[in-house]
Amino acid sequence: MSEINGKVVIITGASSGLGEATAHRLAKAGAKLVLGARREERLQALRDAIVEQGGEAIYRVTDVTERSQVEALADAAKEAYGRIDVLVNNAGLMPLSPLDQLKVDEWEQMVDVNIKGVLYGIAAVLPTMREQHAGHIINLSSVAGHVVFPASAVYSATKFAVKALSEGIRQEGGEEIRSTNISPGAVATELTTTISDPDTAKNVDELYEAAIDADAIARAIAYAIEQPADVDVNELIIRPTKQPL
Ligand SMILES: NC(=O)c1ccc[n+]([C@@H]2O[C@H](COP(=O)([O-])OP(=O)(O)OC[C@H]3O[C@@H](n4cnc5c(N)ncnc54)[C@H](OP(=O)(O)O)[C@@H]3O)[C@@H](O)[C@H]2O)c1
Repeated sequence: MSEINGKVVIITGASSGLGEATAHRLAKAGAKLVLGARREERLQALRDAIVEQGGEAIYRVTDVTERSQVEALADAAKEAYGRIDVLVNNAGLMPLSPLDQLKVDEWEQMVDVNIKGVLYGIAAVLPTMREQHAGHIINLSSVAGHVVFPASAVYSATKFAVKALSEGIRQEGGEEIRSTNISPGAVATELTTTISDPDTAKNVDELYEAAIDADAIARAIAYAIEQPADVDVNELIIRPTKQPL
């Protein structure tokens, strides 16, 4: 039987894209899902679809920029299922733009969601994972967390930060806490809709013509989780074969 079966998995940003695809894949493998995002109707529909297909899932409306809401998501997992095996720190946004445009509000939003949201996730699960002497934190970085390109400076800064956090969790987690940093290339989701600069949007649309399906990333996440406890999959980069960047 798969190592995923019976595991309690929290997913932030579960209402679309990679989070939603991961929820479906892990539910089919027998995970107990705890779904967080801001759009309740999406979460409800996802929960209903999982339950209809014989899976187990609950949801809680969660804005990851509010630490108390991320704590409440972790509490919901423990109340419903008694433990937390995996956190998929996935919520994120990508309003790319050149620095000269000074879209400072968007910079702050990216710092708040892509970095602080991830930190709040870590804070919400780490004590429980320590008590359990076991746990697994999976962070969504990006190819942009490995390379910088024009218009990606702030987004890349947040994704480099995520990569640093993943490595920190790996080093400090010791034998108890597994750490996986997932770096997708172009994947067809709603992510590019957060770009407000028309020129950047046009360039990104061209790159995303080669975008792969969100389930490609869900499979990578499932692979990391389903390894035996003494195997820590630390770093995965998944690009479309056609992607030059
Ligand atoms: N798609 C790609 O090409 C790609 C490539 C590299 C990395 N990634 C990373 O993958 C992750 C998932 O992105 P995606 O591609 O699946 O994009 P997406 O379809 O836009 O999904 C983003 C998710 O994040 C949630 N979210 C945004 N702000 C939030 C907040 N303040 N609190 C809670 N949830 C929030 C959204 O839900 P609500 O709006 O309902 O809150 C949504 O469920 C992101 O971290 C992204 O940077 C994606």
